[in-house]
Amino acid sequence: MDRIRIVGGKTLNGIIPISGAKNAALPLMIASLLTDRTVTLENLPRLADVSLLVRILSNHGVDYSIDGRRQGEDPDSGQTVHMTAREIVDTTAPYDLVSRMRASFWVVAPLLARCGEARVSLPGGCAIGTRPVDLLLMALERLGASIEIDAGYVVAKAPKGLRGGEIDFPKVTVGGTHVALMAAALAHGTTVIHNAAREPEVGDLADLLTKMGAKIRGAGTSTIEIDGVARLNGAKHRVLPDRIETGTYAMAAAMTGGDVFLQGAQPEHLQAALDALELAGAHVQSSPEGIRVWRNGNGLRPVDVETAPFPGFPTDLQAQFMALMTRAEGASRITEKIFENRFMHVQELARFGAHIRLEGDSAIIDGVPLLKGAPVMATDLRASVSLVIAALVAEGESMIQRVYHLDRGFEALERKLSRCGADITRISSGG
Ligand code: EPZ
Repeated sequence: MDRIRIVGGKTLNGIIPISGAKNAALPLMIASLLTDRTVTLENLPRLADVSLLVRILSNHGVDYSIDGRRQGEDPDSGQTVHMTAREIVDTTAPYDLVSRMRASFWVVAPLLARCGEARVSLPGGCAIGTRPVDLLLMALERLGASIEIDAGYVVAKAPKGLRGGEIDFPKVTVGGTHVALMAAALAHGTTVIHNAAREPEVGDLADLLTKMGAKIRGAGTSTIEIDGVARLNGAKHRVLPDRIETGTYAMAAAMTGGDVFLQGAQPEHLQAALDALELAGAHVQSSPEGIRVWRNGNGLRPVDVETAPFPGFPTDLQAQFMALMTRAEGASRITEKIFENRFMHVQELARFGAHIRLEGDSAIIDGVPLLKGAPVMATDLRASVSLVIAALVAEGESMIQRVYHLDRGFEALERKLSRCGADITRISSGG
């Protein structure tokens, strides 16, 4: 297994190109199951989760091809891929694949909508909590599907097709909204989703579906209306920039000091996080080309944050902000409201000398003047990158184990950081 070695103490200066968003790419790829025509996605990031989803989708019959590099193109820029599900050859998504990536459970919606049946393994829990799928199944039932659980599989059926209905989510769910959108796009009649997720990734999926011929109103608000259509066409779509990657590098720049330009980032997708960074003492300047983040000399101020659905402070940036607060001049409180067990990074941050104590769904962080390099272990994707942020300022050497978590969601992490001056190297399992 690869490891990442970081020697802390360098400031970050330079340009970091922001990749296509993992959490937009996954539902966009899954939407290719809704049509027998070709869906072309541009700016697809090179990530382990994307490769795994390709395997899962090809098992259902999706053909996949990647464009080669074009003249003058940066080898690190996103890929253009073509996906065609001419015929669905298998409506079962097996345990050994779904258990490796939760989002693959979402294939249940297009398979059911297009073929009238789907048999998809329950995803199970993960390092950040139990993460049930009850609301996703409720949404499908509201559209007329029958749902049974059989030997760990969800068996969803709608032999005469899905029909439009009212879906009222008791809590905001991103995956539930994705599933409802994809299912309703091919249902007979009109669907209304109440308390829909407003995350930019939902808007991106709605944009692709609209290009494919879906009739969707209100995406990006809490109420979305969809008039079902009999069939959807192919389309071409560019994956939106990754707001979590953006926020992560913004926090890294605030942590180390220096001056970084996050090229291609869209500030409106992470305003709550940028506001928190400014309160902490970083400078943030947005332009149509991206976001500049810098901090010179001044110390970090403690800032309390509470995670919330969009447009609130994202849970996927909670660990990174906690890493930043370990160096603040005073105590801060970070409250996690989305997932019940998303504090696995606390004990690892403590290895650097951070002072953090947990009180229910909150972490109280007493900032310390110095972190010290240490061997640490990544537990999930965002937790692992919080360890990278801490290691960038920790005195001496840190070694981060279980790097595969980072490879799931951060494209070219070492390259992007080392180009800005970080002392970071990957040690491959052979080396
Ligand atoms: C998406 O997960 C993201 N994943 C997560 O990012 C992100 O943390 C999360 O949204 C919240 O923003 C992808 O987009 C691939 P939810 P999702 O349904 O859709 C509860 C990362 O690191 N819930 O919005 O699975 C659930 O337990 C990942 O990239 C139910 O109770 O999250 C949670 O408390 C981690 N029943 C809350 O809702 C359900 O049926 C929000 O979950 C579904 C969800």
